[in-house]
Order: sequence, then structure tokens, then C-alpha cells
Amino acid sequence: MKKILVINGPNLNLLGEREPGIYGDESYEFLTTLIMDKAEELGAKCEIFQSNHEGAIIDKLHNARKSFDGVVINAGAYTHYSYAIRDAISAVKIPVVEVHISNVFARDEFRSKSVIGPVCCGSISGFGLSSYLMAMDALVKYNG
Ligand code: DQA
Repeated sequence: MKKILVINGPNLNLLGEREPGIYGDESYEFLTTLIMDKAEELGAKCEIFQSNHEGAIIDKLHNARKSFDGVVINAGAYTHYSYAIRDAISAVKIPVVEVHISNVFARDEFRSKSVIGPVCCGSISGFGLSSYLMAMDALVKYNG
């Protein structure tokens, strides 16, 4: 596992401002620093991408298939209904780990369903920003 792509979906750019009681008060920039430090610790190269647009996330997944060894994705609310992102994950064949900052099973009922989960190699939810770091650890060890 040499190159990891981290994708963040809608509203995650507002981390720190957005519902801090749920997502914490650390900024998106702070998250990117944590991720890049983790990549260095793992000896991996890493790119971080954020978009509020479904098509842009799909394009990024398509482009990742030849240039990355694995993906960590927090698809935000798209997690719960985007069959298009699910199909893109199935199409690219590289391992993808689903992450969530909050425990999606302990919130609104619609959040307990992930349409992307079945096509990811695993899911990590509920550990705050550490969910991303745990996903990166899991991805570098994954050999399924
Ligand atoms: C989230 C959980 C989603 O239900 C929500 O729509 C988000 C963030 C999380 O990281 O906890 O935008 O993916």
C-alpha cells in the first residue's frame, strides 16, 4: 500500500463549524494535517480530496483506479442514498474503506443504512477524526 486517496464528501469542509456537538470543533484543515502525519508514519503517499458534488466524487474514484492503491472515503450524506457512488466503488476494484466521524448507528434512522458499505472492504464509524486514522491503518494491512 503505497498511495492512499482520502475522499471527503459534502459538508465536511465545514468541520469545526458544523454541529460541533456531533463532529467536534477541530477544523477541516486540522483533519488534513492529522491524515498527512499518519500517512508519513505509515510510509505511504497520500492525497486528500473534498467535494460537495456527487459527480466530482465519482470522477475522482474513477481516476484513482490507476494511480492509487486504496481509498478512504467519508461520503457524508451520500453514504445513505448514492447508488452512483456505490457503483463507482464497485467499478474501480481497488480497496475502499468507509469512514464516519460520528456513530451513524446511534443517530437518525436514515443514517444507519449505508448503500456503499456492502461494496467497501470495511467500515469504521464513531471514533471522531480517529476514524480516518484507523481506516488508514486498516487499509495498509488489507490484502483481500
Ligand atoms: C458523516 C455521517 C453522515 O450521516 C453525515 O451526513 C455526514 C457525516 C460522519 O462522518 O459522521 O455528513 O459521514
